[in-house]
Amino acid sequence: MSHSLVISISGKGGAGKTTFTALLLRELIRSSDYRVLVIDADPAMNLPAVLGCKVKETVGELVDRLEKEVNPDEVTVSFEQMIWETITENEDFALLAMGATERDGCYCTVNRVLARIIDSVSKLYDLVLMDMEAGLEHISRRTDRDVDIFFIVTDASKMGLHTASRIIELTKTLHVDFKHMYLVGNRFPKESVKILYDFAEEKNIECITSLPVDQNISQFNLLGKPLLELPEDSSILLNFKNVVEKYVEPLL
Ligand SMILES: Nc1ncnc2c1ncn2[C@@H]1O[C@H](COP(=O)(O)OP(=O)(O)OP(=O)(O)O)[C@@H](O)[C@H]1O
Ligand SMILES: [Mg+2]
Repeated sequence: MSHSLVISISGKGGAGKTTFTALLLRELIRSSDYRVLVIDADPAMNLPAVLGCKVKETVGELVDRLEKEVNPDEVTVSFEQMIWETITENEDFALLAMGATERDGCYCTVNRVLARIIDSVSKLYDLVLMDMEAGLEHISRRTDRDVDIFFIVTDASKMGLHTASRIIELTKTLHVDFKHMYLVGNRFPKESVKILYDFAEEKNIECITSLPVDQNISQFNLLGKPLLELPEDSSILLNFKNVVEKYVEPLL
């Protein structure tokens, strides 16, 4: 594939988006030597901690620092260069944190910047993973319009399914045509998994996996340990092997 594969992860707040992003990354960098850029597009910025890496500066902080000089709607060569410089290069992957600006007290500015830079920023990588903010705003703002695989994560709650449903409807209304759109269930008890698959069938979306509750994740979360170090025998990892083999690798 000549251009990079762009993957975005959406869903209700707390559904498991960041966990899914981190474990997908873990599997990708273990199974191959793909160059991966991970973008934390959620202003709450949990991803760096979950991955165990530091952020030099977020794009939001950069925009604030350049306050009067920069118009986020005009990403010039030098502005783009500065964004490049905020990327943290780790041994196996690179991380770009969008953050939020203080100047307008919200993340619309960085969302607009992200939509403009995604094409050029992703060129140097085989894969780009974007951990999106909860809800629907990034879809209506078309932040992730150039996405190849759009994963919607839902937990076992009415609200999780409702948000997934609204996301699916909104992509239709706005004619956002993702090449591949998949549903991911997280922490559904065995007896409720049927509800997940029935929902997927009703919405005409393929549900590709139902992630189990993993005690190691809870433990790592409590101790603040990076999920990239999750032990090999963790129950959830098989699901990710399968997701990468069946749904990601064939597109690379
Ligand atoms: N399969 C799982 N097993 C155990 N714990 C999990 C699992 N999935 C998620 N968690 C825990 O649930 C919490 C919420 O997950 P996560 O942060 O991934 O959700 P999120 O959708 O990114 O949330 P937010 O909308 O706040 O960004 C975290 O504490 C995470 O460790
Ligand atoms: Mg998150």
